[in-house]
Amino acid sequence: MRKQLCLALDVATVEEACAWVRRMTAHFGTFKIGLRLFCAQGPSVVDRVREAGAERVFLDLKLHDIPQTVADAVSALTAAGPDLLTVHTAGGAEMMRRAQAATEGRITLLGVTVLTSLDASDLSSTGCESSPLAVTLKRARLAVDAGLGGLVCSPEEVSAVRAELGELSRILVTPGIRLSGGELDDQRRVATPREAVRAGANLLVIGRPVLTATRPEQVCEDLFAELSA
Ligand code: C5P
Repeated sequence: MRKQLCLALDVATVEEACAWVRRMTAHFGTFKIGLRLFCAQGPSVVDRVREAGAERVFLDLKLHDIPQTVADAVSALTAAGPDLLTVHTAGGAEMMRRAQAATEGRITLLGVTVLTSLDASDLSSTGCESSPLAVTLKRARLAVDAGLGGLVCSPEEVSAVRAELGELSRILVTPGIRLSGGELDDQRRVATPREAVRAGANLLVIGRPVLTATRPEQVCEDLFAELSA
């Protein structure tokens, strides 16, 4: 079950991140380094997190720029040695194709479709009048056609994305995981772990529900219990 679970290391320092990894390796197979930690600590954080015991390291930088710039960044980041890295599918087909080529098959690229913090009215306020689901499906198809190894999407869209992909081999990551009755924080489109897995997700990202808990191990036990129910 830990293989399906990813802890988002949304903390300020590499020391805090490594302490969480050491404490949580029994519960999580993947540990995610996001923008905050990467910007504060630099690429060496990938090695540090792995040395602390992370089985898989997920670098979630959601790269989004012109194709050449993203391809160069992906080459540099591949050298840092994560297992998974995100680009933003809003960057378009050419950007994703070039990014994929830049990995030289050494790491798995995932395409972020629509952030789980955005709902239809947020999308519309940015000039995107289609529904989150329609945008997600369009971007998912583009990412798969560009050769990416998987996608990140909200739990609400995961079953439609799974159906759209028509096969099970790709990684489908869902953030926005909340235990029933838990705080939503800034997430808008959320689901319980069980709902997400039933819908076809195979990697669940969870951050604040564990990091801010008074008894994080208990939250993990609840996660396991819910998943095996
Ligand atoms: O604390 P919480 O469980 O909401 O953490 C979710 C993690 O997933 C955060 O690190 C966030 O950056 C990330 N994420 C997300 N929505 C996406 C892609 C990544 O919330 N679409």
